[in-house]
Formats: sequence, C-alpha cells, structure tokens
Amino acid sequence: MKKITVLLAALVSAGVAFAAGPAPKKSGIEAEGYVWNAQEGEKIEALTLQGDVTRGEEAYEVCGACHLPSGAGRPDGTFPQLAGQHTTVLIKQMADIRAGLRDNPTMYPFAVTLTDPQELADVSAYIESLCIPTEHGKYTEADAMIQIAQGKAMYEKDCQECHNANGEGDKEKFYPVIAGQHYAYLLRQMTEIRDGHRRNANPDMVKVIKPYTDEQLVAISAYQASLKMPGSMCGDAK
Ligand code: HEC
Ligand code: HEC
Repeated sequence: MKKITVLLAALVSAGVAFAAGPAPKKSGIEAEGYVWNAQEGEKIEALTLQGDVTRGEEAYEVCGACHLPSGAGRPDGTFPQLAGQHTTVLIKQMADIRAGLRDNPTMYPFAVTLTDPQELADVSAYIESLCIPTEHGKYTEADAMIQIAQGKAMYEKDCQECHNANGEGDKEKFYPVIAGQHYAYLLRQMTEIRDGHRRNANPDMVKVIKPYTDEQLVAISAYQASLKMPGSMCGDAK
C-alpha cells in the first residue's frame, strides 16, 4: 500500500489525470423536485453500518496522498481538511461526489471505486477519529481582526443555528464541522454554494447565503477559519 501512496502522490503533484470516465454532472439543486440528501443507494447502508477504525486506517491510505495522512489537507484550499468530520457528512459528501453533484474531477476516480458500504463506513469512522489540526490555513491579512469581527456577527445571525457556536455542525442532521477548515477552502466552497455550483448544497443554506457579497464571504470565511472545537483539536485532552 505504501508504494501506491508514494506513486499516487507523485502523479498528483505532476498533475496527471487519472484514467477513468469523466465525472457525471447532475443538476441537483437546480433540478425541479430535487430532494436534498435523499436517502438512497449505498449511502443508506453505509450510514447504518458500524465502521471499523483499524480497517478504515488501511482504506484511508490512498486518500492521504491528497488529504495528507493526518487528514489536515492543504492550506491553499485545494484539498480540504477532513480530520474529525462527522461520519454522516463524510458518507454523504462521498456519495454526492460519486453522483456528480459536486465538481471534483480530481477526487472523482477515487470516489467511484469506494462503493462498498462497509469500506465507506470504515474509512469515515477512521477520519472522524482523527484530531482537528490547530495549525491550518487561517486568514492572515493585516485586516484579520476586523474581518473576523465582522464575520462573527454574520455567523451568529445566519449560520450558528446549523453549524453551531464552535463550528461543530450536527452529526444527526448532516451539517459539517467547520472548525479547523482552511480559509481558502471555506471561501471557495461558500462561493460555489452561493453561485449554485455545489449542486448538493442544503437549500436552506443557499437561501441564507445568496445575498452575501464577495467581501462578506471573505469576512465570514475568516471567522470560520478562526473557530476551535474544545476537546476535538489536536493536543486537547479528550
Ligand atoms: C487525487 C486527490 C484526492 C484523493 C486521492 C482523495 N481526495 Fe477527497 N477531495 C479532493 C479534492 C480536490 C476535494 C475538494 C472538492 C471540491 O473542491 O469540491 C476533496 C473533497 C473530499 C471530501 C469533501 C470534504 C468537504 O469538506 O466537503 C471528502 C469527504 C473527501 N474528499 C474524502 C476522501 C476520501 C475518503 C478519500 C479516499 C478514499 C479521498 N477523499 C481521496 C481530492 C482527493
Ligand atoms: C439550514 C442549515 C444551514 C445553514 C443556515 C447554513 N448551513 Fe452551511 N451547510 C449546511 C449543510 C447541510 C452543508 C453541507 C451541504 C451539502 O450537502 O453539501 C453545509 C455546508 C457548508 C460549508 C461547506 C463545508 C465543507 O466542508 O465543504 C460551509 C463552509 C458552510 N456550510 C458555511 C456556512 C455559513 C458561513 C453559513 C451562514 C452564512 C451557513 N453555512 C449556513 C447547513 C447549513
């Protein structure tokens, strides 16, 4: 397995495209009658299975080439931080990537191979068990204090009811953990969700975010990247 990871890392950094059919492109949220998070396919099965962390660690090896062995991803926003994410969110997002509801040509070839519900449950259990990095891509411009303060006010008004005060999300409701995520990735995802390009997005979140300007997205991303989840960050006592 180790050799495969090294080879993969080399291919990824060389920008080599993987041999697999092109990712499908479903209209999702823009289609009439679209049901957000419809419970179908291997997703339902994976959600009911007990994940095995040890088996999951092995299955994760291939993912670590991009998301890093720690799950921390990259600060430039290309590869998201995954560590500590809810299993429900991980399973849903992987199913959605496979279904063509997110534009992710880089990961698509890996998502299509991961259809065994038990393996999905295992790899998700492993990722959820990892601590959330404290050192990650934060907003570092000179006006960070101002941006974070403005973002906080918006977050408390519009986002907290779903993503919670410390960015904990909600496991039962499939709301992602935000704490520890890279600023650049947050900004990119928020922009894609606002503009309708992330076609699996929660319609209630889309409604909230539609009127946001680019400047407001910067502020709210700066704030989210500053969040900490006590007890789940690397170095915290569990
Ligand atoms: C070739 C690189 C690559 C590999 C290998 C890879 N991913 Fe990804 N992954 C990505 C990229 C790029 C994204 C960001 C997608 C976007 O921008 O919408 C992503 C996104 C994700 C997300 C969504 C995160 C979020 O915050 O919404 C999950 C979950 C995920 N990957 C899990 C995995 C798992 C599990 C594996 C191993 C089976 C894996 N990835 C392998 C590149 C990769
Ligand atoms: C009604 C609940 C709800 C509200 C309100 C909401 N969100 Fe979300 N958010 C979600 C869900 C659910 C997802 C996952 C969407 C999907 O299925 O892909 C998500 C995804 C995200 C993501 C992408 C996370 C990732 O790992 O890819 C970010 C960032 C985010 N929300 C930030 C915000 C911010 C900032 C606000 C306020 C302006 C907000 N959300 C309001 C439910 C909500």
